[in-house]
Amino acid sequence: MQIPDKLPTHVSIIMDGNGRWAKERGKERVYGHFEGVESVRAVIEAGVEWKIPYISFFAFSEENWGRPDAEVQTLMELMGRAMLAELDNFMEHDVRFMVLGNRARLSDALKADIDKVMGATAANKGLTMILFLSYSGRWDILQAAEKMAHDLIEHPGRPVQPEDFSRYLVTAGIPDPDLLIRTSGEQRISNYLLWQTAYTEFVFTDTLWPDFRKEAFREALQTYALRDRRFGKIK
Ligand code: IPE
Ligand code: IPE
Ligand code: MG
Repeated sequence: MQIPDKLPTHVSIIMDGNGRWAKERGKERVYGHFEGVESVRAVIEAGVEWKIPYISFFAFSEENWGRPDAEVQTLMELMGRAMLAELDNFMEHDVRFMVLGNRARLSDALKADIDKVMGATAANKGLTMILFLSYSGRWDILQAAEKMAHDLIEHPGRPVQPEDFSRYLVTAGIPDPDLLIRTSGEQRISNYLLWQTAYTEFVFTDTLWPDFRKEAFREALQTYALRDRRFGKIK
């Protein structure tokens, strides 16, 4: 497999189309979510092999809480189970695992699983895998603004720079995504990383998430490698 030489530092993925994938096969939506876990595994495996420093996934949005209880429940259980099942793999491949989002809405059981896997992998030095869970871009910006306002009242000082604000977001210390991939043909941001995608390259693919495996990932990286990033300047 030919890997492009210009790889992104941080690839983020909006994993979409699980429900449609299941429906096409006459199955329940959750079946698509189960199969989607295999795609996450395949992408991480490729990321480790190709030495991509950060790969993040939009796993559950704040808006997704509005789905039927049974689907929400299944998704939450699936995530807890999947992260525990991957722990040995993470340790073997030096993967640091993180969950970012609105923790307050997660169950105690899931928070315990998250703490266990994050704690165990915290010192790993290879790929960082981030799961955005109960996350939305506007929520992140609001919680950051609240924290920053508090600090500014305590320590008024020089004017705030964009880098200062970034430090209050849940992604503090993580480089902004170079590439954002969205599967399933939808071409929107759906309240994902709004601040952090200011100069991100977008790749949209019709492939449904459960079908997105190593070759589809390589193709998206190939598309990214051909992009000309100018950041507002002239080359
Ligand atoms: C993405 O697949 C997974 C989540 C949003 C949790 P969907 O469940 O949105 O699948 P579609 O878009 O309905 O096909
Ligand atoms: C975005 O997918 C959220 C995740 C992938 C977690 P949705 O399926 O929820 O987005 P919309 O509703 O089509 O915009
Ligand atoms: Mg969807």
